[in-house]
Amino acid sequence: MTDLLRISGLVARHGLLHAVRGVSLTVAEGETLALVGANGAGKSTLLRTVAGAHAAAEGAVVLGGDDITRLAAHRRVGRGLALVPEGRKLFPDMTVEENLLVAGRRARPGQWNVDTVLDAFPLLRPLRDKRAGSLSGGQQQAASIGRALMTNPRLLLIDEVSLGLAPVAVDAVYECVDALIRGGATLVLVEQDLSRAMSVANRVVCMLEGRVVLDAPAADVTRDQVTDAYFGLHRVPTTSAPVDTPQTHPTSERT
Ligand SMILES: Nc1ncnc2c1ncn2[C@@H]1O[C@H](COP(=O)(O)OP(=O)(O)O)[C@@H](O)[C@H]1O
Ligand SMILES: [Mg+2]
Repeated sequence: MTDLLRISGLVARHGLLHAVRGVSLTVAEGETLALVGANGAGKSTLLRTVAGAHAAAEGAVVLGGDDITRLAAHRRVGRGLALVPEGRKLFPDMTVEENLLVAGRRARPGQWNVDTVLDAFPLLRPLRDKRAGSLSGGQQQAASIGRALMTNPRLLLIDEVSLGLAPVAVDAVYECVDALIRGGATLVLVEQDLSRAMSVANRVVCMLEGRVVLDAPAADVTRDQVTDAYFGLHRVPTTSAPVDTPQTHPTSERT
């Protein structure tokens, strides 16, 4: 598999706070990468920096061989990057269809349009004319993923696939994710539910306090090994000082 995304030595800050501290990783074409880690580990900042919503302080983001580190976010969409942000961020007063159409206005050529999104995510079809703000959390997540697809991305980044959703809604959203995986999409999923993440992903990357502390094929690591990495119990060699144990449990978070 060829690398679609290559991140090297990426540093991103919020003021004086180093949220992403020299992250390097690759995502191969057709791969599903699960990005896990405790609250505050830097997952969202990493995705936002890759998508161009946050500036990189150091390092490089290369998509399909092109350095896009300094490109504006909307131009990265044009190159094939789409981000489903944490919290969905749909236009609440617009219908599902209008939300999809807005995203599709300057879409790259490709397979995705309103009809193919509704075919792939059948739960959205009866909601087509409903206000996005009136949908349940799971329905909104499906609409948000559908909206990102409307740009015809080569790489889809989904921040917090299931956070805050009821179990039945999580199943519905993962049916959508499974449909994308079967279709050969390249995905990066941020997911708090480790079992779920490891069941759909080829590769698991765990971040701890801004660094990658585990990067392995999902089939080669146990859930316990990932949990240890999550809590900083198993660390790759690093020159940094020891860190405090994060306080969030991987599967306990429901907001
Ligand atoms: N907008 C922001 N302003 C200041 N600090 C932020 C902001 N967003 C995130 N942070 C901080 O950056 C660190 C990484 O946060 P984030 O990337 O949201 O992690 P995660 O998504 O893994 O929970 C945390 O210490 C968080 O408090
Ligand atoms: Mg986050």
